[in-house]
Amino acid sequence: MLRTHTCGELRAKHAGKAVTLAGWVQKVRTHGNLCFIDLRDRYGITQVTFKDRLASEAGKYHKEDVLQVAGKVLKKPEPNKHLATGEVEVAGKELVLLNKAKSLPLDLDNPDTTEETRLKYRYLDLRRADMQKKLMLRSKAAVAVREYFDKEGFIEIETPILGKSTPEGARDYLVPSRVNPGKFYALPQSPQIFKQLFQVAGLDKYVQIVKCFRDEDLRADRQPEFTQIDLEMSFVEEDDIYEATEGMVKHVWKKVLGVDIPTPFKRLPYKEAMLKYGSDKPDLRFDLQIQDVTSWANKTSFEIFKKAECVRCLQVNGGFSRKQADEFADIARTYGAKGLVILKKTKEGLEGSLAKFVKEPPVRMRENDYLFFIADIERIVAPALGALRLHLGRTLELIDTKQWNFLWVTEFPLMEWSKEYGRWVPMHHPFTSPNLEDRHLLKKAPHKARSRAYDLTLNGVELGGGSIRIHDFELQAEVFDALNISKEEQQNKFGFLIGALSYGAPPHGGIAFGFDRVIMLLVGADNIREVIAFPKTKDAEDLMMNSPNEVGEEQLDELSVGLKK
Ligand code: AMO
Repeated sequence: MLRTHTCGELRAKHAGKAVTLAGWVQKVRTHGNLCFIDLRDRYGITQVTFKDRLASEAGKYHKEDVLQVAGKVLKKPEPNKHLATGEVEVAGKELVLLNKAKSLPLDLDNPDTTEETRLKYRYLDLRRADMQKKLMLRSKAAVAVREYFDKEGFIEIETPILGKSTPEGARDYLVPSRVNPGKFYALPQSPQIFKQLFQVAGLDKYVQIVKCFRDEDLRADRQPEFTQIDLEMSFVEEDDIYEATEGMVKHVWKKVLGVDIPTPFKRLPYKEAMLKYGSDKPDLRFDLQIQDVTSWANKTSFEIFKKAECVRCLQVNGGFSRKQADEFADIARTYGAKGLVILKKTKEGLEGSLAKFVKEPPVRMRENDYLFFIADIERIVAPALGALRLHLGRTLELIDTKQWNFLWVTEFPLMEWSKEYGRWVPMHHPFTSPNLEDRHLLKKAPHKARSRAYDLTLNGVELGGGSIRIHDFELQAEVFDALNISKEEQQNKFGFLIGALSYGAPPHGGIAFGFDRVIMLLVGADNIREVIAFPKTKDAEDLMMNSPNEVGEEQLDELSVGLKK
């Protein structure tokens, strides 16, 4: 070993001991014939003092040079309260330069470095104490997850990465097969089918911390490759999955943050979430609720309201500028609304374009109350007001940022309309069981059927989603039919699953959590790139490795792949 101790380890009890440390130069200061070097590694920082000849040698080193230092631990007369090792310093007796560092392309002490530079030199960016802290917490959380599931009798089983397209709704990453020219593997969007097959195999209580791959538009909480905590259980109903995962959350939060999370979590049916909060992942850290005023609006003489299918509003008290009102309207428009109708109550009475068309507002208003209305079809009104609700929550500082507000959103619809594909698609995935009370709707009005799918949200972020699955192959075929998946495609894509369901599949269900999102929230980051060692940019690029990149003709030929000119 090149060291006897780490740079974060020494305390007063080590005084008098001969030690050897190794690490990076954090800071060099010279005072006459004394030189102080702060030596850093991922465990901490220790101050080393050099005198006379060694001082002039030490003074030549620069930030980020790698040194080995041997010396004696001394108790400091006045401890440095800013350092964990601040009770002591090391009186340096020997100094070895292990490696010289060129001047760095980014300033590790400047938090404002552009993300582009940080990602290009990620191996340097990861030297920052705050980045190391996040990755160490991530490791601790993974250990806690495994610890919990092991204690609960789960088994971790790995599933293939080279697989076949699975229907999580995103595009697949494809891998050409050299030995099967013209054929492709798909990287898993999740291990969904495999974990269901484990249940058919009798391998109850499966768990895996697993990489998933989805070619989709990237956002702050989405990466093309990400990690799931994935689980599946047999002979269960919704409550069993809720209980198992609430236990995991409780254990992880306690182990990692020392925080007690009360369980069980609140539950809210999807329909109510959309109605009251305009979101399927409502942030309930603040109370502001959307109000449905359609029947009132239809009776006014205001043209836009008279015939509208759905009119809802948000009520807040405040004073807003013209500029702010325009900003609110812009938010509504981003969600497809044609505009925002504002009604204000002042000392003089009602104000705003709507005022002359209404005698009484639909709800009681106090002075300086605003009503923000959107009129349109429900599919537009709900999310547009949901987004405005969040914006108002932030602007008016209504959000209690200290809360850990967990919420189960339940009874998701079985299907949703896909604008992109122009047809109904599964809201979760096609293996999700319909609510059996709604089975009769599958043929007539499948989009009205409820499912047995649920999401776990935390502070307005979707942490995980799952469902009770279909275990009866006839029901599975009915759902495929309702989704307009042809018999041929059913066989082609999922023949093996339908087969498996016909050989005695137990009732089963499960859930998967976005592990990166869990960590993002645990560390208080607002972007999952902050908790992934080597993330991709919004354009799905790795700026450090310069990937994806072109490959040579020879490699393409070998794979029987030709590029379109
Ligand atoms: P779902 O598609 O809802 O369900 O994914 C589960 C959770 O994974 C996280 N997640 C992502 N995180 C980062 N980047 C992404 N691109 C990304 N996509 C999803 C989210 C999400 O809640 N097989 C089902 C689970 C099941 O039914 O058991 C599934 O994958 O936090």
